[in-house]
Amino acid sequence: MGLVSAREMLLKARKEGYAVGQFNINNLEWTKAILTAAEEAKSPVILGVSEGAARYMTGFDTVVGMVNGMLKNLNITVPVAIHLDHGSFEGAKAAIEAGFSSVMFDGSHYPIDENVEKTTEIVEYAHSRGISVEAEVGAIGGEEDGVVGSGEVADPQECKRIADLGVDILAAGIGNIHGKYPDNWPGLRFDVLKEVQDVTGGMPLVLHGGTGIPGDMIQEAIGLGVSKINVNTECQLVFAAATRQYVEEGKDLVGKGFDPRKLLAPGAKAIVQTVKEKMELFGSVNKA
Ligand code: 13P
Repeated sequence: MGLVSAREMLLKARKEGYAVGQFNINNLEWTKAILTAAEEAKSPVILGVSEGAARYMTGFDTVVGMVNGMLKNLNITVPVAIHLDHGSFEGAKAAIEAGFSSVMFDGSHYPIDENVEKTTEIVEYAHSRGISVEAEVGAIGGEEDGVVGSGEVADPQECKRIADLGVDILAAGIGNIHGKYPDNWPGLRFDVLKEVQDVTGGMPLVLHGGTGIPGDMIQEAIGLGVSKINVNTECQLVFAAATRQYVEEGKDLVGKGFDPRKLLAPGAKAIVQTVKEKMELFGSVNKA
């Protein structure tokens, strides 16, 4: 199956009460591991690509070419979307031009009127090409320069304004943050999530910062309309830990253990395992 927009897979998830995972990719190993996990779990999947990760992989064209090649060579049958994560206005257009099947335009740092104006233009641009759009209200916090900011909480009325522009998916800050959560994190604002769900009338909602959110909170969020959950840091952590163990056990010094295909294999295996566990938690297994 070729790439699909995220719209249909998320409307199905919303209707049936589960969430599809967005797992961010960084390179070939990441992409292969996530697609392998999705195929084995018979789960739809969204490959998230930040503009920084796209630059690291040399650009949007390389990402699209690599993913399309893998869909064919790995005989992937489950629905797969390539989705720009936290895209800028220009970045969203460029990703669409290169063949992304879904984009997030993150205008949450603009005043609301400017967010509305720019989101409107991206929706027109994307929808005329069959591409789905995620918009954001209330910036998702996270760790920057060692300072952990608590996530913003979105204003439900602003969420309604953005949802009414015809976006397919809406990310609303509800106290969630990217990266690891601090010990004193007060948890997700389910009261706000419920209000956002009420005013957006059944639109699939997105939970960013999926790493480290306890399973019971994840399930409660899905019950309140979250249909897409983004996970990035957790795959990085398990990859790094497995690679560290391989090196600390001196395996790179035995025979051809230094061969990158061997050196990176434990990390890739750890990503497959983590992605499958998340798919189980999100309820998307066997939903392809
Ligand atoms: P984490 O890195 O906290 O899992 O967040 C991922 C994310 O929300 C990407 O948009």
